[in-house]
Amino acid sequence: MAEFDILVLAGDGIGPEVTDEGVRALDAIGERFGHTFNRSEDLVGGACIDAHGVAIQPHTIEAARNADAILWGAVGGPKWSDPRAPVRPEQGLLALRSELGLWANLRPVVVDPQLADNTSLKPEVLEGVDILVIRELTSGVYFGQPQERRTVNGGRAAVDTMYYHEEEVARVAHLGFQLARGRRGKVTSVDKANVLESSRLWREVVEEVRPEYPDVECEHILVDAAAMHLIRRPSDFDVVITTNLFGDILTDEASMLAGSLGMLPSASLGELREDGLGFGMYEPIHGSAPDIAGQGIANPVAMFLCTAMLLRHSCGLEAEAQALEAAVAAAIGDGLRTADIAVGGEQALSTREMADAILARLEG
Ligand code: IPM
Ligand code: MG
Repeated sequence: MAEFDILVLAGDGIGPEVTDEGVRALDAIGERFGHTFNRSEDLVGGACIDAHGVAIQPHTIEAARNADAILWGAVGGPKWSDPRAPVRPEQGLLALRSELGLWANLRPVVVDPQLADNTSLKPEVLEGVDILVIRELTSGVYFGQPQERRTVNGGRAAVDTMYYHEEEVARVAHLGFQLARGRRGKVTSVDKANVLESSRLWREVVEEVRPEYPDVECEHILVDAAAMHLIRRPSDFDVVITTNLFGDILTDEASMLAGSLGMLPSASLGELREDGLGFGMYEPIHGSAPDIAGQGIANPVAMFLCTAMLLRHSCGLEAEAQALEAAVAAAIGDGLRTADIAVGGEQALSTREMADAILARLEG
């Protein structure tokens, strides 16, 4: 019997629809296993811009510091996407990642064999795909300074800075090697060392960390080749460590292995305590999907899997996490589909119907 404080930040688009289901999953777990998940909610992203003129309020960041975890929906949408707008919904997300020091973004990509026919790749290519991408999340070109507009020769110019400090690389490398030990023992580091200085540093530091883990295999791949190999031979990857921008791009690509963006969760973690647990932000990688927002047809699976990651990494509730993951697998196994993963004549369930089907399969 344990008690946890969860900050729920639903955001925009389909964010609130899927976050509602994540909260129901927490309640169901709480009921079955006798835990209490206290919740508070707040506005972020476009919703917060509309109400308060900023993408996140300082008191929300403070509330996050006092919580055990954040369940995050999604931010953004056409209403706020004018590139010249001074305030953008994504700033709320980036502020949280940075202020809370959430430098490790874990993005597992697992292909459920039941869905192998629902993807655009050949089923045999997808056999045995089980990848853990660790994306560096608080540095790189997302945060490097300067990042600004300039006037050059009377014309518009812009600069972003791809910056890395060796410590930022080393901690990602250590985490990658450590997690690989509990998996298939292989780390693939992805960079662009043939062109970028920050990537040459990245590769150098990974090589320096590597001898501490002689039992783990390590390879370096350039990001363009990695993009190709992800589609060509995805089952060769185990743990992938990479920079903020490359990780962002490659995980959208990798999501297609799983059949839909709507299937993949992520956990953003900072320094963990001795027991391996710590504060985390849990976020489906699908984003706000404005094209289907408000229709109740979004796939709740990513959010359920986020909730499972929350139970595992921030609450230390491994059995509960596995129960939730098993319920998702059971629902998929029974042929239940939302529109994004339905093919041929398969019936597409609504968000709520799919969530109900998963919760009905929760055992424990
Ligand atoms: C993600 C998203 C974000 C990112 C956006 C919304 C800022 O694409 O979490 O992958 O680029 O990190
Ligand atoms: Mg992204």
